[in-house]
Amino acid sequence: MTIIDDQFKGVTAPGISPVRAKGGAPAYFSAWDLHAYYGESYIVQGVSFDIREGEILALLGRNGAGKTSTLRAIARASDPQLTHGEIWLDHQPIHEMPNYLAAQNGIQLVQEDRRIIQGLTVEENLQLAQISGPHGWSIERIYDHFPRLAERAKQEAVTMSGGEQQMLALARALARDVKLLLLDEPYEGLAPVIVQEIERILVNVKELGITTIIVEQNAVAALHLADRAVILDMGEVVFDGTAQEVLDNEELRQTYLAI
Ligand SMILES: Nc1ncnc2c1ncn2[C@@H]1O[C@H](COP(=O)(O)OP(=O)(O)O)[C@@H](O)[C@H]1O
Ligand SMILES: [Mg+2]
Repeated sequence: MTIIDDQFKGVTAPGISPVRAKGGAPAYFSAWDLHAYYGESYIVQGVSFDIREGEILALLGRNGAGKTSTLRAIARASDPQLTHGEIWLDHQPIHEMPNYLAAQNGIQLVQEDRRIIQGLTVEENLQLAQISGPHGWSIERIYDHFPRLAERAKQEAVTMSGGEQQMLALARALARDVKLLLLDEPYEGLAPVIVQEIERILVNVKELGITTIIVEQNAVAALHLADRAVILDMGEVVFDGTAQEVLDNEELRQTYLAI
């Protein structure tokens, strides 16, 4: 069924994907049969998974498996182009929305390169995130949770360390009304001690009940944080289960994660 096609618009009841309509309550987040292309390159090849509210899902797989592409497809980035499938978040049909509407409906993607705005201070970066609604955390609340950012409020953000920039990228997502946080390699390029600091912040995010997808090459760290795991290989889901199952299954880890 191609829901992107106009013929299906309005066919499904709001908030109930056809899969779910067959029985059971709709999941808080549901990606169903996603297919996405970069030009002619067919990369995301029928990816489906659900996430419960407040759950953390580790999206894992080798380099080039399609993790970033899947996150970008969910956030409705223009690249890769989603050609088929459904994305539902809190009863909203995200697959029908352009990127900015997906963001307004609570999808916040923290990209690998962090996208800190050059020439702006830390505080200005945060203010920019709140230039249009709906808002999430106040800047005051952000500074309570990220004292390092409070100390550096007036500093030009790109002059901060990698770890501090990662904190800002995360804080900027929280400044929006986030319902699904998408983290692409939040630990990448950071020293172990900084990774631990970001990990503590993410444990905090977890305790606050923010539904999250974390993509990480450091699979063990991601699995310790996550409740569930989905493993991708060549653009397809090859495993969907609990994080503990992956930690316990050496063969699975060796085959798909090389750990
Ligand atoms: N902008 C792009 N144009 C064409 N192909 C791309 C682009 N970005 C990624 N790819 C290809 O898509 C595949 C999946 O990439 P990606 O989603 O970045 O994998 P991962 O994040 O799991 O390492 C790779 O084969 C990669 O070469
Ligand atoms: Mg990637």
